Amino acid sequence: MVKSASFSCSACGAVHSKWSGRCDACNAWNTIIEDVPLSAGPKGKSLGARRGNGINLTDLATQEPPPPRTISGMDELDRVLGGGLVPGSATLVGGDPGIGKSTLLLQAAARFAQAGLPVIYVSGEEASAQVRMRAQRLGLGDAPVKLATATALRDILTTLETETPGLVIIDSIQTMWADNVDSAPGSVAQVRAAAHELTTFAKRKGSSVILVGHVTKEGQIAGPRVVEHMVDTVLYFEGERGHQFRILRSVKNRFGPADEIGVFEMTGQGLAEVANPSALFLSGRGDPAPGSVVFAGIEGTRPVLVEMQALVAPTPHSQPRRAVVGWDSGRLAMILAVLEARCGIPFAGLDVYLNVAGGIKISEPAADLAVAAALLSAREDAALPAQAVLFGEISLSGALRPVSQTENRLKEAKKLGFTSAIIPAGGKPGGTGGLSLTRMGDLTGFVGEIFGAG
Ligand code: TYD
Ligand code: MG
Repeated sequence: MVKSASFSCSACGAVHSKWSGRCDACNAWNTIIEDVPLSAGPKGKSLGARRGNGINLTDLATQEPPPPRTISGMDELDRVLGGGLVPGSATLVGGDPGIGKSTLLLQAAARFAQAGLPVIYVSGEEASAQVRMRAQRLGLGDAPVKLATATALRDILTTLETETPGLVIIDSIQTMWADNVDSAPGSVAQVRAAAHELTTFAKRKGSSVILVGHVTKEGQIAGPRVVEHMVDTVLYFEGERGHQFRILRSVKNRFGPADEIGVFEMTGQGLAEVANPSALFLSGRGDPAPGSVVFAGIEGTRPVLVEMQALVAPTPHSQPRRAVVGWDSGRLAMILAVLEARCGIPFAGLDVYLNVAGGIKISEPAADLAVAAALLSAREDAALPAQAVLFGEISLSGALRPVSQTENRLKEAKKLGFTSAIIPAGGKPGGTGGLSLTRMGDLTGFVGEIFGAG
């Protein structure tokens, strides 16, 4: 009988022959756990040696009706879920501590319960009285949500088996404790076991399960990346501290589009939905200022306008600073390099700061042109026309490349009172959305046209 290596890293999956504090494959700390054999079957024999029950095979042509979804009535949440909650689905909601996960899910619990779904909210962090007080303060005191404070998973599952609710919210997965796993609550092994038990329960009984997970500073759900693979849907609740905006983003969804966002605002009365995020992100934008431009972006299925702000200042240091909030720093370096190499505009000896206003994170390459424009505008100390939006991808050659959903972006800009747009030449001919368009083939042309330099 072969004695197999019995430790593996829960972060990267590397197999180790002995335990250690740090995985030497991915350098993560405290992620190595013992692989406990699950069952006491005939050891050492391959699975094929003894016959199982067989599985049912089917074909691709069978028509499945779409899953019946429950709508909470919170549009921003329903859309991110892919059009409502799917029965039997498991969802992970991750986010920094204090960002508002419990608030969001308490409000969602109340709305789903009011929509007729039996809801159980299990808090492992707050006493029932605390949750009840919060609910009453949010005006949700009479929603038919069943509430419990518990961390012992066996007890929780026993109750769930008899109640079979339509939706169970577990806040948070890190506080759950499975007594068949020999490690402390919050450890990777515990979180993995608890998530496994709860997702299996969801599939077996057709109850939807929402797990709350706290995220570490590096943006990982503390330890258990594995949970992301077990669930059907992974949502992140994010936002900058000091900003009232909160964004619920789907990063994985077996029942809908990924990368969809829902926008909320944290108020004294809980989270308020923001139906028109562009207006919110652009609010507080004053007169045209150098370094400020408006980018017409797409988040998920929705156009969103955001303000890009740049500041360029001479530095006394030999190594100038490049600081970015809300965008990719590698992409900023690329645009600075293209501006320097293709347009002859150097940024050496200059500190560069780039900020996406409102605390939203942009990941679209379509923002390249807006970033370049903000940088140039800051460097030349010349404001762009206030009523113009920009978008377009910049290639390393300095060419501007067309991006998707041009017309949707233009329409959103029109809706918010913009009158002109600077966009890449080429691409599919489409409507102008009622804006006057300036089409540019490359960055050099853009610099010449807008700043009269080159
Ligand atoms: P919470 O939902 O407890 O965060 P999480 O579960 O992600 O740790 O939110 C806590 C924060 O939200 C807290 O700092 C106070 C703030 N808050 C409001 O501003 N208004 C409200 O109505 C509520 C309930 C919370
Ligand atoms: Mg909480």
